[in-house]
Amino acid sequence: MINGKLPKIWYGGDYNPEQWDKATMEEDMRMFKLAGIDVATVNVFSWAKIQRDEESYDFAWLDDILSRLAEENMFVCLATGTGAHPAWMARKYPDVLRVDYEGRKRKFGGRHNSCPNSPTYRKYARLLAGKLAERYKDYPQLAAWHVSNEYGGYCYCDNCERQFRVWLRRRYGTLEKLNAAWNTAFWSHTFYDWEEIVAPNALSEEWNGNRTNFQGISLDYRRFQSDSLLECYKLERDEIKKHAPGIPVTTNLMGFYPQLDYFKWAREMDVVSWDNYPAMDTPVSFTAMAHDLMRGLKHGQPFMLMEQTPSVQNWQPYNAAKRPGVMRLWSYQAVARGADTVMFFQLRRSVGACEKFHGAVIEHAGHEFTRVFRECAELGKELQQLGGRLLDSRSRARAAVMYDWENRWGVELSSGPSIALNYVDEVHKYYDALYQLNIQTDVIGVEEDLSRYKVVVAPVMYMLKPGFAQRVERFVAQGGTFVTTFFSGIVNENDLVTLGGYPGELRKVLGIWAEEIDALLPGQHNEIVMKENWGPLHGSYPCGILCDIIHAETAEVLAEYGADYYEGSPVLTRNRFGQGRAYYVASSPDAAFLQGFLANVCEEQGVEPLLNAPAGIETAERVKDGSSFLFVLNHNADETAVDIGPRQRDLLTGRDVSGKVKIPGRGVMILARAADPE
Ligand code: GLA
Ligand code: ZN
Repeated sequence: MINGKLPKIWYGGDYNPEQWDKATMEEDMRMFKLAGIDVATVNVFSWAKIQRDEESYDFAWLDDILSRLAEENMFVCLATGTGAHPAWMARKYPDVLRVDYEGRKRKFGGRHNSCPNSPTYRKYARLLAGKLAERYKDYPQLAAWHVSNEYGGYCYCDNCERQFRVWLRRRYGTLEKLNAAWNTAFWSHTFYDWEEIVAPNALSEEWNGNRTNFQGISLDYRRFQSDSLLECYKLERDEIKKHAPGIPVTTNLMGFYPQLDYFKWAREMDVVSWDNYPAMDTPVSFTAMAHDLMRGLKHGQPFMLMEQTPSVQNWQPYNAAKRPGVMRLWSYQAVARGADTVMFFQLRRSVGACEKFHGAVIEHAGHEFTRVFRECAELGKELQQLGGRLLDSRSRARAAVMYDWENRWGVELSSGPSIALNYVDEVHKYYDALYQLNIQTDVIGVEEDLSRYKVVVAPVMYMLKPGFAQRVERFVAQGGTFVTTFFSGIVNENDLVTLGGYPGELRKVLGIWAEEIDALLPGQHNEIVMKENWGPLHGSYPCGILCDIIHAETAEVLAEYGADYYEGSPVLTRNRFGQGRAYYVASSPDAAFLQGFLANVCEEQGVEPLLNAPAGIETAERVKDGSSFLFVLNHNADETAVDIGPRQRDLLTGRDVSGKVKIPGRGVMILARAADPE
């Protein structure tokens, strides 16, 4: 459990009473009760309020807020407030200000604006965290610590550049090793002194954010910046732990956020938390995948939904309102996929600045007679009724999709073969196919233990880290099915090509080698022509983006290209290896192919769908103490009939249901039954 003090799904969110007067806070207390809200995240952006200079710390206002919340028996997720530095600090100690990608020194402004290698920032952030922890360690309502806020962004200042060199010395030890890792013999880049190394940005090696002359340098700078921000997090966390070792510490992540290696971050966090802000046109399967990734960061441990909007956002180009029922539906989607909290940004809408049009539980109208408040209050009641039943329940997926940030950086920084190749999209295509098939899937990192899975899908596994290929071999040899695609096994962790034919170290398990890579223009396609019908797969399917031109060695060929000079050469292969199988998909197929293909792959392994349900129905399962909780989510606006099979108890209505049931548009069922034996 995240914290046994509050043994139910936490319900609440970001709360900023310091922006209001006391009477407003009283009104908030009344309305929180009406809405069933029991958690407030406070102090997220209050550094300047606490500290007017280096010496003075004013916690009196925070004492007041916390004691008022305690009187109401509200729990608190206490932020350290270091997500935005005070103006006086920027003026007096300009090292806290970042230098941007273009090389411009920033002035004071915005948030998430501190240089992670600024001695001033580190000093005062750490001090503040320590003082907060010391002061509030025995606060009875303290449920979790929320360090800083949405860490992100890169800095290119002189301090960062210096620390980059220190980081590189630690990684490589000698310049010879560094020169080899970066292949600096190319374009006369040999470094003879560590001081010659500069940060890669628009003033040096890079342009457009992800175009670079030197993949090795740019890749290491991403690792270094992710590590630098992580150091900032760890400094604060360690201060907190000195005083309050028993309270869980987290920082709010952002799903597939590109800049930080969250697998590395999660190791330092007691519980993962994240902010879910899909655009109105984000596929629901993408949101599902992001939840699954957040669950995968800590090997299946439940996570916190730290933020979502109850209604609208303000920072999208078009901020459509969540339709009636959607907030509830998406909240249960998070819970279905492992969230043990449902929290909002924000509890009350602010009166000024850029987030005044961001949705909140309490809208500008200021009373409870709004659609949004009513929906929040209904959900609050339901979560109270659910109690602690679902807490700590886990996924028992037998299928997994792999995702890795360093691999992503490698793919995104690559010059060629195609700018149309988008790693996250390729991962999502495979995830989406499993999602549409209602196959429970975990999203896992490349270091995860594979032995509990029967099917592991690793799209575009371009970068292979040491030991990865051997682990895949072991997994397949012991009976697992491994699926990978074009543009896999190309480079090592330094982005140096593994010579001797692609897919390098995966060649043996896949039983193929790739000779050439062809990039197709937008809208241009080749064909995947099945050699024989295979389950739902028959005839041909379009494919595009990249076409690997491969040779089967020990693999059997299941499909061939239908066109061009490589017509008749393999595009889909299966290699039997030990007790298992390894598939190679040499191009990027359409959804119809992927659903048929993964249905076959899962069937071969006895991995079954949670339900056979019509389109728009999402399913996900959590299990605990011999009970299974099957979430059935209707993303359709209209009532949809689903056959749920034998009799089960719907936790939301308390009624027993069986057979064909009708789920209202945007409706949810949580079906409880004894879990089948493993
Ligand atoms: C982020 C931040 C919040 C707020 C919301 C608005 O998630 O953490 O402070 O700005 O976005 O959507
Ligand atoms: Zn910096």
